[in-house]
Amino acid sequence: MKVIDARTDAARINELFYQRIPEAGLRNYWHPVALSREITDKPVARTLMGDAVVLLRRLGRVYALANACPHRGTQLSKGTCEFPGTRTLTCRYHGWTFDVGDGGLVAALTDGPDSPIVGKLRVRTYPVEERQGIVWIWLADSPPVPVEQDIPRGLLEASEVHTVRRIAKGNWRWHVENPGLGHATFLHRDSEYMRIVDMFGYATGIKAMLGVEGDDDEWLLEKFEGIGQDREYPGLGSWPRHRFGEVIKLTKFAEGPRGVNTIVSVKLPGIIRVSNFPIADSLYYEWFVQTDADHYLYFQVACAYPKTLMDRAYWLLRFYAWGRWAGMVRFNAQDLWMVEDSHAKAKLNGGVNDPVAGYRADGFQLAWRKYALENLRGAKVTEQQSDSLQAAS
Ligand code: FES
Repeated sequence: MKVIDARTDAARINELFYQRIPEAGLRNYWHPVALSREITDKPVARTLMGDAVVLLRRLGRVYALANACPHRGTQLSKGTCEFPGTRTLTCRYHGWTFDVGDGGLVAALTDGPDSPIVGKLRVRTYPVEERQGIVWIWLADSPPVPVEQDIPRGLLEASEVHTVRRIAKGNWRWHVENPGLGHATFLHRDSEYMRIVDMFGYATGIKAMLGVEGDDDEWLLEKFEGIGQDREYPGLGSWPRHRFGEVIKLTKFAEGPRGVNTIVSVKLPGIIRVSNFPIADSLYYEWFVQTDADHYLYFQVACAYPKTLMDRAYWLLRFYAWGRWAGMVRFNAQDLWMVEDSHAKAKLNGGVNDPVAGYRADGFQLAWRKYALENLRGAKVTEQQSDSLQAAS
């Protein structure tokens, strides 16, 4: 394991971060876009990193194309399937028909079977894959890496995979920098999820370590040495105050599944992993896929590894009776509330919103920026892609 400390070099790291980590998102990675069960023969429109995309299923496979007909620009998501049993999509306006596999124009129905335009045009297609009931998309022009390379092992090997998805206001970069001990002990202390916990005020010795823990791949792990014991703030009083109903004293932390004991970790392209969330024996993952300039798809996944039917029933009971609602929906809604304001600050500040080196808890966020800069795959977003993001807002 390697310590990543960017605090002494924060100004340079922050400057490079805005040059190399685009607000539109990192295209050279696979991103989750939908659940497999949501994509049927009926086309579905999505905006991803500023690109209008149509997703649909043909002959059992999922396909993705640019959602604009090259004739007059009609959204292909309004199209129909005129030739059942083929992998085609027909534009609703003049009946141009495309092979959804390679995007080629295979017929122009209102120009007859001998139309000279056939074979002369193509719609852009995007690589898509399905794993664990989730549709993954590759938005870069470059050839994709194997999808397994971008899906955490803890998700690929889970026997229980349950999601919550919503469109949130803000930018993906602020949400990647949200998790960690700096906010958890304050923002979430009044959530339903934490209300019965005697939550400590702060952690000591926070540091970022890059390495493999348990049966998962390499992550940037947020480690800490202990719980701060001093509650006295000179001239102010004591904090945190004890509240009625705090029946669980948080003094030590349970081991996580698959040997993942660190509570919060992060990795490229901006995936968060939380151990034992939203209930014990779970690994929880979050993705933030920018849609337009001010919104992103917040894609939350809870994973579990029960070995017996009884284990599975017990996990599902706890998850649906408590963890999903109190954790993934309500607790995490507090994060969205804050990320929206981080985005508003950035918009007023030339797109900049930095962690602060003098505040020790921000060391993890600075370390993430350094790690991202040093491990970024492939090319930056192009100017054209950046323009399309602005246009979609
Ligand atoms: Fe699509 Fe004319 S706009 S066929």
